[in-house]
Amino acid sequence: MKFLVINGPNLNLLGKREPNVYGKNTLDDLHQRFKQLEQEYKVKVDPFQSNHEGAIIDKLHEAYEENYSGVILNPGAFTHYSYAIRDAIASIDVPVIEVHISNVHTREAFRRESVISPVTIGQIVGFGFYGYELALKAMTEYIVGRV
Ligand code: DQA
Repeated sequence: MKFLVINGPNLNLLGKREPNVYGKNTLDDLHQRFKQLEQEYKVKVDPFQSNHEGAIIDKLHEAYEENYSGVILNPGAFTHYSYAIRDAIASIDVPVIEVHISNVHTREAFRRESVISPVTIGQIVGFGFYGYELALKAMTEYIVGRV
């Protein structure tokens, strides 16, 4: 199994960006953690981050064209308004899990709506970086048909 982990805008600044909300760990720390998880789960994980909507859409198409088993996606603020990312997910036959580091439901009202969720197999919010790990576990279970 091979997975893509896609992080959207401003997530390259993890560790520096609002550490009270997103924690002190960096995107590189997250990628290192995925290297450990690759061994543990015997899967391949390819990380990708972009601040650009089109680049994220191209990557989602690539997930389909290159036969990825699943995508773990934190779309950042695009979550709340990007119909283009939503349509890209609907266009590909690859399961996507949406992850948010913070609990978007306890923050500003605009963060409560996700235009992405309806085209995902599930959403994990509020567990910090551990949410990505939970998503990897859920995705492997989903693919083998246990959830
Ligand atoms: C976020 C939540 C979004 O509302 C915000 O715009 C982000 C990060 C999260 O991981 O908690 O950039 O997706």
